[in-house]
Amino acid sequence: MATPYQIVSLREITAETVDAVIKLSVAESQKRFVASNAVSLAQALFVPEAWYRAIYFGEELSGFVMLYDESLRSPAPSAPEVGVWRLMVAEQHQGKGIGRAAMQLVIEHVRRKRYFRTLELSYVPAEGSPEPFYLSLGFRNTDRVKDGERVMVLQLGEA
Ligand SMILES: CC(C)(COP(=O)(O)OP(=O)(O)OC[C@H]1O[C@@H](n2cnc3c(N)ncnc32)[C@H](O)[C@@H]1OP(=O)(O)O)[C@@H](O)C(=O)NCCC(=O)NCCS
Repeated sequence: MATPYQIVSLREITAETVDAVIKLSVAESQKRFVASNAVSLAQALFVPEAWYRAIYFGEELSGFVMLYDESLRSPAPSAPEVGVWRLMVAEQHQGKGIGRAAMQLVIEHVRRKRYFRTLELSYVPAEGSPEPFYLSLGFRNTDRVKDGERVMVLQLGEA
């Protein structure tokens, strides 16, 4: 049987798919952990560092991910940094391994660029937070707090 890793893909968002991406939603209780996709896409319009993809499970649209990637600046800084800005899997698709597989694809994407030694992210430290999910992917808590969010970092090895 195919594993989620084999059937999860990250695809560019198009004029045909953007409405469906905007309609994807997490559970009510999770809304404090992530902005809506409409807000994320609006923010992405104004920053060259935004890299965003729709997450598919087979042919089914299931989620959204966005990086803040300083190597996309022109010119790129000499030591660019990269972080996971947004990640969501729609409520009805959670718990199937899609988030984990999508993050593995994101990590691969970042590694392949060969600019970065670490991948960062931050989360709202509250009941039901994605902290255990990120710990299981190898991210570790730091003592840094950014805008009230706890910062985690994944070591990527030699860039
Ligand atoms: C976090 C999120 C993306 C995970 O996606 P998912 O597809 O449900 O995750 P997976 O099915 O791949 O789960 C992988 C593992 O993490 C665990 N996990 C997933 N979400 C978790 C959570 N919120 N708390 C604790 N564990 C969690 C799963 O139980 C699973 O563990 P296992 O491998 O031991 O079975 C999804 O729950 C989500 O969209 N949450 C709301 C938005 C959010 O918090 N985004 C992150 C903002 S920083």
